[in-house]
Amino acid sequence: METNREKVFESIRREVVKYESEKRYRHTLSVYEESAALAKLFNLSDSDSFALEKAALVHDITKDFSGEKQLELCSRYGIRTDKKPDDPMPVMHQYTGAEFARELFGKDIIDDTVFSAVGCHTTGKVGMSLVDKLLFIADFIEPTRQYESCKELRRAFYNRCEDKKDNTEALAVVLDETIQMCIENTIVHLLQRRMEIEENVIPLWNSLLKSGGQNNGS
Ligand SMILES: [Fe+2]
Ligand SMILES: [Fe+2]
Repeated sequence: METNREKVFESIRREVVKYESEKRYRHTLSVYEESAALAKLFNLSDSDSFALEKAALVHDITKDFSGEKQLELCSRYGIRTDKKPDDPMPVMHQYTGAEFARELFGKDIIDDTVFSAVGCHTTGKVGMSLVDKLLFIADFIEPTRQYESCKELRRAFYNRCEDKKDNTEALAVVLDETIQMCIENTIVHLLQRRMEIEENVIPLWNSLLKSGGQNNGS
């Protein structure tokens, strides 16, 4: 089992490294390590931890692509967009990345759990699965991120998880509240810079508020 997983990870790493800058690839490996740690902390099943770690390895596979290439992929995969090649597209890679990875590695490796996690790793979405949430958090708090807000969130998250090991329900609450803080940080950041807010983000924010700080998705 372990050997087989490792073979899959190795075959993904061999491809991903071709599409990412050195810095991006370092981030990818860090998200992968963070995901492996979170899978243990949250006591994921073998299949969910496998999915989460595969998703971590492919999550930014198209992030270094040009705007033109992003739009080419949008039209190839039927992703709806009104962007022009020179427009900022900080979120597009979550959609193109999920599709591109599935095309490259096949549906067996990029199964629906992996596809979903990659497809919402930047914006989140209403009804996130546990794997979706853990990739979202791993991407936000991995230790190569130097923003003070990310470091602070990482410290707070692990401090709060510390005394809740093996208490699945309490950990789930910490996870949901941390996601809410990430979304809040992102919205404030975008508003302060008068930047576009991705359409998924507003319904997610509203659902987090309605559920009292928890996003009780599937
Ligand atoms: Fe990303
Ligand atoms: Fe990332």
